[in-house]
Amino acid sequence: MSDLYQQAFEYATSFLKEANDLPIQVSDQARADLAHLDFNLPIDGVDAQQVIQELNQWVTPATMKMGSPRFFGFVIGGAYPVSVASNWLGTAWDQNTGLEKTTPAVAALERISGRWMLDMLGLPAQSAVAFVTGATVANFTALAAARNQVFNQAGWDVEANGLIGAPEVHIIISEESHPTVYKSLAMLGFGRNRVTKVPTDAQGRIDMAQFPEVKDNSIIITQAGNINSGSFDPIGDICDRVADKNAWVHVDGAFGLWAMASNQYKHLGLGIEKADSWATDAHKWLNVPYDSGLAFVKNEHALKAAMAITASYLPSENAERNPSDYTPELSRRARGIDIYAVLRHLGQAGVAELVERCCSCAQRFADHFEAAGFEVMNDVVLNQVVVCFGSEEKNLKIMEAIQQDGTCWAGQTIWKGRLAMRISVSNWQTGLEAVDESWAVMETILAELK
Ligand SMILES: Cc1ncc(COP(=O)(O)O)c(C=O)c1O
Repeated sequence: MSDLYQQAFEYATSFLKEANDLPIQVSDQARADLAHLDFNLPIDGVDAQQVIQELNQWVTPATMKMGSPRFFGFVIGGAYPVSVASNWLGTAWDQNTGLEKTTPAVAALERISGRWMLDMLGLPAQSAVAFVTGATVANFTALAAARNQVFNQAGWDVEANGLIGAPEVHIIISEESHPTVYKSLAMLGFGRNRVTKVPTDAQGRIDMAQFPEVKDNSIIITQAGNINSGSFDPIGDICDRVADKNAWVHVDGAFGLWAMASNQYKHLGLGIEKADSWATDAHKWLNVPYDSGLAFVKNEHALKAAMAITASYLPSENAERNPSDYTPELSRRARGIDIYAVLRHLGQAGVAELVERCCSCAQRFADHFEAAGFEVMNDVVLNQVVVCFGSEEKNLKIMEAIQQDGTCWAGQTIWKGRLAMRISVSNWQTGLEAVDESWAVMETILAELK
């Protein structure tokens, strides 16, 4: 057994050692070679070491180096070494993280790291924390709690009676909401289309001048960190506007919520603590391995009512914190281990430093683009930069050349109706050197394709 683990460890560590110096983009050959893994499952199996050897042989080369300090695609981070190591330990421990009685250690790590994050992000201390797979499920989980409370106050037990015949609930959502929020609304039975969309300003923030009259029984979905511009909705103002209604304000802060850990950036989320729930990803800006998202919910009872497995269990306010009372799953991975490990390693100052460094890098990119005469389409308030090089065709050509070069990686977006390149700086390794190295490549490509 130890040979097998040693072999896997060596493959993994040599990948981690070399990854930063390898092309980020997966080559066509490596993609084609994946065919070696594809056959009808034989009657007889093979030795475990052969399996690991084959995985390394064909999967490692076809792995996009998303953890590189020069990967700026989507809005994803890498994984701090401490979280990779804790993840390995967590896999060895293989805890079924459902009940505190049976998995006391990992349940404790969730309880402790949950408290740390509420404190660090300035969210209400009494909030419940759910450790889920990612921001999509964090939004779903928080909105399930919203559904419970809003219906409950309207005299309807939605968990018991479902939605057929239920009172009407109004969903108010930014026109810039992430597509996965619509998916959550669909899964919760609210429907993707039965929403009032609020127009946004030039930075993608909800425009309060166009914010609709809010009726009782409403759920308002806001954003802390626009996927393109990084800007925040005026969340505090929205909470004030609806304070006297049966209304729930949710914040999708998939990456942006972490800005609240920085004294320099937390002004973006002024009044955010007045909201009812917040969703974020740990596998983005906190840089832990996939899959790791978090839902914070002020009303613990609403979350447990929506998520606990048996309704009869609810009224007894149990002294134990059973992780499965807060999440869609019963059995699951102990995600709190990696979050605990990174927070313990970085401390509050380390998380703030990570946020601030990434934001400085984004600003450096913007400065390079602007100095070279290109249009930066957003106000760079956080870690996001949207740059337009001209026509759609030109943008696509430039992005293709950058990706093919392999030194760095950035992808396309549509921002305010125009195709552009988006840069997101969210990786724990990224510093100004990585930015300048990437810019040098971009500058050459831009000159060649002029
Ligand atoms: C604002 C926002 N919400 C939700 C999501 C979905 O997150 P995940 O892919 O972790 O489920 C993302 C992902 O980029 C996002 O940026």
